[in-house]
Amino acid sequence: MSIKTGIHNGVATIEIARPEKKNALTVAMYQAMTEALDAAVADKAVRAVLITGQPGIFTSGNDIEDFMSRAPGQGSEGMDSSVFRFMRALLGCDKPVVAAVTGAAIGIGTTMLLHCDFVYISDEARLAMPFVSLGLVPEYASSLLVPQLMGHVRAAEKLLLGDPFTPEQAVEFGLANAVLPSTEVVNHARRIAERFNALPPGAVREAKQLLRGPQREQILATIQTEGQLFGQRLRSPEAMEAFQAFFQKRKPDFSKF
Ligand code: COA
Repeated sequence: MSIKTGIHNGVATIEIARPEKKNALTVAMYQAMTEALDAAVADKAVRAVLITGQPGIFTSGNDIEDFMSRAPGQGSEGMDSSVFRFMRALLGCDKPVVAAVTGAAIGIGTTMLLHCDFVYISDEARLAMPFVSLGLVPEYASSLLVPQLMGHVRAAEKLLLGDPFTPEQAVEFGLANAVLPSTEVVNHARRIAERFNALPPGAVREAKQLLRGPQREQILATIQTEGQLFGQRLRSPEAMEAFQAFFQKRKPDFSKF
């Protein structure tokens, strides 16, 4: 199991811990994170959730081997897949979620931040959403929320070209609260999460609901539309070429498409 969980001082921590594969997320890891989120919601003693990674790496996104090996309808696609259940659990979490982005955040590593309430980023982190470079399409409502945050033309750089961006840019775009030294990011995020111990949980819950309230249905509908296309793209020759190129440590060749 590559997800560590624990509850301390009112904060449920979900730590992504698969550094040998740059914290790439497998089906089992999505399931573990979903269970941890559901348990945090159900536990009255939990006042906030902290999601974090390892020094130098938050997550490199979905495990690309999982992308390749998954048969149609299983695991990494479809509205009942483990990925989609994780997306729904994070979106539906009625307690504040704080992210400590300890390093590179790729793919869903960046898009999950769109659904957290507080985001603190290590000064050594890099963010990127290279879905198109992998023959895929944007996911987790990023096609809706990223243009809203930064405007269409900057969103096109990030979502069509897959250009990486810096922690400072993430703050400028409104995707993150602050950039912190890598040695301090987790402690700072934890201190923010612990502040909810002193706040009334019912008011926090209802206020959080109101913040996203009107857009929640649109976000869910977008996740569904993107998910259908994403599932089709996963089986496309373009995606296969991109995945194989990644593991063969070469540049993909899209000239034949
Ligand atoms: N899925 C599966 N394996 C992954 C992975 C992923 N998303 N990201 C990294 N790994 C594996 C590598 O295959 C490698 O395995 P190996 O040691 O068996 O060869 C190991 O993790 C280390 O990765 P490596 O690429 O050598 O590390 P790096 O420090 O040079 O680069 C990243 C780090 C995160 C920039 C790079 O691994 C990367 O771009 N990963 C893929 C990101 C991505 O496209 N994610 C999907 C988004 S939808």
